[in-house]
Amino acid sequence: MLIRNATLPDGRTGIDLLVQHGRIAAIAPGLFHGRPAPAGAQDIDAAGWLLSPPFVDAHFHMDATLSYGLPRINASGTLLEGIALWGELKPLLTEEALVERALQYCDWAVAKGLLAIRSHVDVCDDRLLAVRALLEVRRRVAPYLDLQLVAFPQDGLLRAPGALAHLERALDLGVDVVGGIPHFERTMADGAESVRILCELAAQRGLRVDMHCDESDDPLSRHIETLAFHTRRLGLHGRVTGSHLTSMHSMDNYYVSKLLPLIAEAQVHAVANPLINITLQGRHDSYPKRRGMTRVPELLAAGVNVAFGHDCVMDPWYSLGAGDMLEVAQMGLHVAQMTSQAQMRACFDAVTVNAAKLLGLDGYGLEAGCHADFVLLQARSQVEALRLRAARLLVVRRGQVLARTAPVQAALQLPGRPAQVDWTLPR
Ligand code: FE2
Repeated sequence: MLIRNATLPDGRTGIDLLVQHGRIAAIAPGLFHGRPAPAGAQDIDAAGWLLSPPFVDAHFHMDATLSYGLPRINASGTLLEGIALWGELKPLLTEEALVERALQYCDWAVAKGLLAIRSHVDVCDDRLLAVRALLEVRRRVAPYLDLQLVAFPQDGLLRAPGALAHLERALDLGVDVVGGIPHFERTMADGAESVRILCELAAQRGLRVDMHCDESDDPLSRHIETLAFHTRRLGLHGRVTGSHLTSMHSMDNYYVSKLLPLIAEAQVHAVANPLINITLQGRHDSYPKRRGMTRVPELLAAGVNVAFGHDCVMDPWYSLGAGDMLEVAQMGLHVAQMTSQAQMRACFDAVTVNAAKLLGLDGYGLEAGCHADFVLLQARSQVEALRLRAARLLVVRRGQVLARTAPVQAALQLPGRPAQVDWTLPR
């Protein structure tokens, strides 16, 4: 495959990219200018559109996705009612239906250029039904999508009977990452103890960690501090993620000024889930209502790797969504007020390169030697892609086209105006 005349996220234009054996063999300006493509190669004109590495979702729940309304809808809109509702749904789940919904979501994801997802999977179930279903999904989507699974004790590692044994069984079956939910344990002390147990388990097994951490509006929730402490103590630097961290929004500013360097020192990654945080947090407030999303610009300024996750699509916690990581990034940009050019580009990175680093993906990026995985966007820059939630003209993995979307245009019928409008800026 040869891609001609693409624009790159760093602003370089007129880029040609040659794919051989599923990898990027060469990438440079005007590499094939005025020359035919190599014999047998697919010759694609990018027409100056933005070529990006694929989107990566750092935080998702594929076992719950597309179950909206089963068996009822979350009336209060809170995290806690969502957890209770998921508890009502769990006994009704079947492996076939769960696999079918997850595969449908993966279709949506691929069409949106989302080619790697880290999904938490609930292990608080004697049957491990969701674990078995998502292991089957991981196997079936492997040719076109990287699905990384986190063993997630939804009902609490210490609070739910047998949760640790279930979690270890899930890891034995091949689940990739150790999860946790310290803020849902019965006490702050139990939460801290769960973090210790889970980090030690991950260290013994040589696995990564990704915990739901401080997902509340409680300014005194302190589990990210404990997570950073055990990460450093056990030498797990760069292998641990704190997801949500919404309490940080409400914490005392002095305490946060101490906390941020501790997170950075331990090289703990942070995940914000903008669509879900802005929806679930602040539900116990009257006015003013807190936004609840973690302190993204401050974490970035402290040197912490921050990614954004979709978290939920049409499930007990969230009624919307379509696997569009540009929607996620755009919401993150708004909620964090990251409106400078550099900050908007940082929001694009939060759903591409930062998330890929967090997952530990090999061969990710648009350099010679990387996997030939990319998405062609109907936009001229990252900021324009965010503004328009740009159409994914072409989605490619390992040099194979997986999906195409026709360019978005509209026919105009206005006197004295052009016959067509598109929303990109003139070249
Ligand atoms: Fe989550």
